Amino acid sequence: MSSVKTKIPLCEQFDTPEYVRDYTPVLKSECRSREWWIVEVGGLICGVLRLVGNETRYVIVRDGYRGQGVGASLIAYAKFRRRTSWGKTKKGNSEMRRLFEKEGFRRAPDRDEDDWMAFEWER
Ligand SMILES: CC(C)(COP(=O)(O)OP(=O)(O)OC[C@H]1O[C@@H](n2cnc3c(N)ncnc32)[C@H](O)[C@@H]1OP(=O)(O)O)[C@@H](O)C(=O)NCCC(=O)NCCS
Repeated sequence: MSSVKTKIPLCEQFDTPEYVRDYTPVLKSECRSREWWIVEVGGLICGVLRLVGNETRYVIVRDGYRGQGVGASLIAYAKFRRRTSWGKTKKGNSEMRRLFEKEGFRRAPDRDEDDWMAFEWER
């Protein structure tokens, strides 16, 4: 668990004793129910995907490992595990938008929220 805490990109900001105490049981349960998937290179976590039902809720690739297909492999894995999938990203996030589109996701304006754009895919 400590390696998850320190190695998942962006999680450093949650590295407080209170957060670890409160979130560790939740994270363990989410890992057991196969919500979290990682891409590991030489022991380093360089990509993370969270799948909540059909939703790709958290897709992130570590700096230095972007532009090498890690993001595409995470989305491809979500598609492998599901018959349909959807996800959303901030309107300004052109990298994530392009990634969804390249992986065959289409815009799903019905699911848009505020400045979040939704995309969906069906096998
Ligand atoms: C969005 C994000 C997940 C994309 O991940 P990524 O690993 O860089 O994505 P990919 O490498 O699969 O694709 C990105 C680009 O690299 C290119 N690429 C893929 N494989 C490649 C390779 N082997 N060699 C060179 N380039 C490659 C792709 O063609 C793509 O280029 P394009 O967008 O100009 O067409 C990443 O930028 C990220 O973590 N962003 C911050 C977090 C974030 O915003 N997440 C989304 C929250 S909703």
